[in-house]
Amino acid sequence: MLVKFRLNGEEVEVEARPNEILLDTLRLKLNVRSVKRGCEKGECGACTILLNGDPVTSCLILTPQVEGSEILTVEGLEEDQEFKKLVDSFVSEGAVQCGYCTPGFLLTAYAALSKGKIRSVDDAKKYLEGNLCRCTGYNKIIKAVVKAVS
Ligand code: FES
Ligand code: FES
Repeated sequence: MLVKFRLNGEEVEVEARPNEILLDTLRLKLNVRSVKRGCEKGECGACTILLNGDPVTSCLILTPQVEGSEILTVEGLEEDQEFKKLVDSFVSEGAVQCGYCTPGFLLTAYAALSKGKIRSVDDAKKYLEGNLCRCTGYNKIIKAVVKAVS
């Protein structure tokens, strides 16, 4: 079936099976490589995207479900000043090691920051609890997100 949606500001049309997960459509058909394949069970957050402004795990969404939606990945935020500030914080705080989890963290944090939901370390921990990282121990990531508020 043909599914139409907006991806990073561009209208896209893609042929997808009714049971195709959005993660596969994005990575394999639309070449969006920042969206990572991790657990495929909705537990690690590596496949996070913004769907109509909210962070969701693309491994748990079927592509036909996003018909008419607005999808953002980090590729679509390169010129966004708030996003750049967040990335700069990650870099300056050393919050990126292997980087596999980083796009998901950035998108989740960006969505929460955009809505003014992160003011403290506790807020950052709460909003990022669905994103897992095996390398950084979280402290640097949390610090980077809180730093981006100031
Ligand atoms: S790959 Fe989707 S949450 Fe882990
Ligand atoms: S930096 Fe390696 S999993 Fe997060």
